[in-house]
Amino acid sequence: MRIDDPKLMQALADLDVDVQHGVALSAHTSLAIGGTTDLLRIRKHESIPGLLHVLDAGGVPRRFLGGGSNLLVADGELPWVVLQLVAPEPDVTIEGNLARVDAAADLGRTVTYCAKHDLGGMEGLIGVPGTVGGALRMNAGAYGMQIGSYVREVKLYRAAEHRLETLRDDQISFEYRHTSFAPDDMMLAVTLELPSNPYKEILQGIRICNEKRRSSQPLGQKSAGCIFKNPPGASAGRMIDELGLKGTSVGDARVSDRHANFFVNAGKATANDMLALMGAVRERVSAAFSIELEHEVVVWRA
Ligand code: EPU
Repeated sequence: MRIDDPKLMQALADLDVDVQHGVALSAHTSLAIGGTTDLLRIRKHESIPGLLHVLDAGGVPRRFLGGGSNLLVADGELPWVVLQLVAPEPDVTIEGNLARVDAAADLGRTVTYCAKHDLGGMEGLIGVPGTVGGALRMNAGAYGMQIGSYVREVKLYRAAEHRLETLRDDQISFEYRHTSFAPDDMMLAVTLELPSNPYKEILQGIRICNEKRRSSQPLGQKSAGCIFKNPPGASAGRMIDELGLKGTSVGDARVSDRHANFFVNAGKATANDMLALMGAVRERVSAAFSIELEHEVVVWRA
């Protein structure tokens, strides 16, 4: 979708929103899949209420992009513009055991920055691509930890209610790859309360998680991490592997040879290739195990 109304363009400039026209979202997703639209980069949180107001008034539909690492976006010209926060400098500040982190901050850099300040707990998340806001929204986790356990409070914009809000941890529920945030809530910043630990010890934990990840996941390839959630008490990757589906492909969308719950873009895969592969694998798992796998990856259909 293209914004070409001069009045709207002026309103966006007044709000200090940077408009990039005709951006291929394939350049902004870890799967390297996604069609084209205008990308609106938000430099200040305070612009958000005004921005959503002018977009709503102009009848411009929108989606909110984090780091694009757990996302499958439709192909072609997309029927909505995409909003993205620009990380401020600095994007993490530390005060005692509290880390105040902008939602646009890179997750991996945040984990190492906190580690250097002797704050641990998040070692398992090293190597998970994406932003802190994205990790928060879906309660990213690995190796027995999840980000939600460390949340003290979250600043967000509740688009449905046109309201900036700060929620305490006891007002949010964090479950396995799921949170109580509304679909339209925009994560803006989070305060994490992290356990103190000497940097050297945290680094040791980071190295162990890195090694585990390197040995079991296709890190150098274009993927969205695990494509399906693990059903209670079972492993999606193990089931897909047991069915002999590693290497199965639709176009250039392929089940990884290394980890069967990672679907990779081995070349020029389209969103439809990926969706067809996901559908085919789901059916095989359903037929063999009577389990309906749920997407972990967020799908933006056009
Ligand atoms: N397995 C296989 N074949 C495979 C993949 C896995 O047999 O192709 C087996 C493994 O040998 C192991 C079991 O399945 O016995 C579980 O595998 P793994 O330890 O790799 O963990 P997972 O359940 O597949 C989960 C998370 C990952 C996270 C790892 C490590 C989900 C959907 N996946 O994977 O998170 O990195 O544990 O904690 O919860 C993600 O969310 O995107 C993600 C990659």
